[in-house]
This record gives sequence, structure tokens and C-alpha cells, in this order.
Amino acid sequence: MAELRSRRSNLAVPGSNPRFLEKAKGLGADQVFLDLEDACAPLAKPGARKNIVAALNEGGWGEKIRTVRVNDWTTEWTFTDVLEVVGGAGANLDCIMLPKVADAAQVQALDLLLTQIEKANGLEVGRIGIEAQIETAQGLINVNQIAFASPRIETIIFGPADFMASINMKSLVVGALHPDYAGDPFHYILMQILMAARARGVQAIDGPFLQVRDVDAFREVAKRSAVLGFDGKWVLHPGQVDAANEIYSPSQEDYDHAELILDAYDWATSEAGGKKGSAMLGDEMIDEASRKMALVIAGKGRAAGMQRSSTFTPPEG
Ligand code: GLV
Ligand code: MG
Repeated sequence: MAELRSRRSNLAVPGSNPRFLEKAKGLGADQVFLDLEDACAPLAKPGARKNIVAALNEGGWGEKIRTVRVNDWTTEWTFTDVLEVVGGAGANLDCIMLPKVADAAQVQALDLLLTQIEKANGLEVGRIGIEAQIETAQGLINVNQIAFASPRIETIIFGPADFMASINMKSLVVGALHPDYAGDPFHYILMQILMAARARGVQAIDGPFLQVRDVDAFREVAKRSAVLGFDGKWVLHPGQVDAANEIYSPSQEDYDHAELILDAYDWATSEAGGKKGSAMLGDEMIDEASRKMALVIAGKGRAAGMQRSSTFTPPEG
């Protein structure tokens, strides 16, 4: 996968609330998304567009990825959302998030609109990315085409709340396991999204967990997608930020181990190391596939700014 910036924590910020917009700047999330969709009441949307443009242009977001979630294409708002936000703050914006994506054509429509607004405003064409939210049965059956619909795609995101409504899933807590079902009811959905994202070389992001005061439960739910390989998760509350940053980073031990494998394998395959295609690192046999796995962990660790705490010493003799 290309070098992508970390998106371990994706903080949702309602565009209708200037106080929350201001507060979000100081939080430790890797990404913020300023919301014009479901966290904004219809009557508040025009004002929210203006708040978002002002907050983006004001700056102070540090290294955070700045995304705006517009309304979906079945509403009357999408066009004006994109026009006002990108026209007003396109230079200070990284991505547009498109919710409830149904098919590839909806992504292409946004791509065309973005291109035209970029041209009209003297912005670099193609710089603004697209984050596609999969939150309906139709979106999921089309997720492979959606992932490849535009070079702007940067993430595929799972939207559990809308998704559970879309498929009539019996719900207790959004995104959590259900006591009446022994398995993980979300496994299939998460895997479909992950396969599409990985085939396309973009990030896979897990959606929100609504019981915002229960950080332990958030951690349990987050681990389920982190272990599959997801790159991050939405956070709805400042209390969830640190947990997401931790859970979607490799542990220090795994990060160190990955860097060691890379060094050890590099050495083993070299002239000095005997041009070996497989080698022992302690009790572990490593080969080219180990290097690929290690690259993933090391890549996530490096993107998250981790420092290794061990060095490789070639074996004697
Ligand atoms: C997020 O948008 C969700 O529907 O879960
Ligand atoms: Mg949703």
C-alpha cells in the first residue's frame, strides 16, 4: 500500500456547533470529519456549511486530516454542500466523505463535481480525496466497484448504524455483538469492506460506537476490526480518541519485532548474510512472506510516528 497518513482515530464533529469545531482542533485525533449529514438537523445545514468553511480557513488543525462529510446523493443538499465547502475552503481541506454510497456512479459524480469546482477556484485538480461510506446493502454488494470508481478514493468506511437499519438487523448496541448470536454479526460486512479496500490499496475504516461513555466496550468493538487489519475507527467523543490511537497502532513489541524481521531478512538475503531466502530470527523461521507481513506492521508504526526500541545485530560467523 502507498504511504498513507494514519487514520487511527476519525473524530466526528457536527458542523452546526462552532464550539465543538473549535474544541476538535485541540484533540489528539488523526483525522477530523466535519459533519453536514446526520449530526446536522436539516434546518441547521446552511449555517453549518458556513461554520465549516470558517473553521477550515481559520486553521489550527495541526497535522490532522481534514474531511467534510456532505449529504448523500438522494438528498437535495449534496451539490450545494460540495460547492460551498470546496469553493469556500478547498485549499484547507483534504477529503470529502460521501455517505450512503450506493454504487460507483455516485463516486464518479462527486469526482466530476470536485474537478469542476477545483478548476473554477484555481485549486490543484485531483488533490481532494474521497472517503466512501458503505452503509446499505446496496453499497455493500457494489463495494468492489466503488473502491475502484475514482483515483480520489482514500478510504472505505463502514457505517454500522445506517447499515443495521438497511438490513433490518436486530439491534441492541450499534456495532456490538448480540447475545442471541454466537458469532460476530459484522464479520462478513467488515471483511467485504476490507477486501475491497485492500484490493484497491486504500484504507479501511470502522464506523462509530454509540455508547460513548463506555470506553471499555469501545475498546472491545474496536479490537474486532483492528485484528482483521482495519486502519482506524470513528470516535464520537474525546474519551474514545486515545483508545482508538492505541488499538489501531501496533504494540511497541510488535512494531520492534517487525523492524527486526525487516533488518534480519535484509541481512539474510544479502551477500554477507549468505544470500538465504529463509533464515532464523531467534526461534522463528522467516522468509519473503514474513517480510511482507512485517512491512505492514512497520508501515503502520512508522505512519503513527513510533520509534523502535531495539536494533538488529547480524549473527556471528
Ligand atoms: C454512520 O454514519 C453510521 O451510520 O453508522
Ligand atoms: Mg450513517
